Amino acid sequence: MSNRRDFMGMALGGFAGLGALGALYAAKRTWDPLPSVKAGGFTTLDLSNVPENTLIVEKWRGKPILIIKVAKDDKAYKDKRLITVDGHKYMIVVGLCTHLGCIPDYFPEKHKFICPCHGGQFDAAGEVLKAPPPSPLVIPPFKIDGKKVVLGEEGPEYKKLKAAGLVA
Ligand code: FES
Repeated sequence: MSNRRDFMGMALGGFAGLGALGALYAAKRTWDPLPSVKAGGFTTLDLSNVPENTLIVEKWRGKPILIIKVAKDDKAYKDKRLITVDGHKYMIVVGLCTHLGCIPDYFPEKHKFICPCHGGQFDAAGEVLKAPPPSPLVIPPFKIDGKKVVLGEEGPEYKKLKAAGLVA
């Protein structure tokens, strides 16, 4: 009887271990950085396999860059600040609050960013919903290259947003 109990215990322990491993693997996949190449102040990000509605955090010149691939019919995003790459819309912003530079937290169920320092809020496209931030989250200089985005270079799409006063 005790042998049978031992066996059941080991089997259950094994299943629990496998479950924990699976959860770790899933979490790690979410945290994996995008395939990227960094050189001379430029960071090239390959967006081919970005999942929809998942916050991806990258780094460019020491700053956090927040990226969300917007689901096709998601109305929570204001189109004018989105960047179209290979037919998909993305929110790409510098993840520093424009008040005093804290990193805002993302709440996907509310489609908003809330700054932990003084409670400033931004919508899912980085526009201010609640002061004190004086301006939207900054869109970094970028150039689109097929399915890739080169951060640090001002391509025509960035210049268009800049001319319309939408990058900051
Ligand atoms: S630093 Fe974000 S609200 Fe003050």
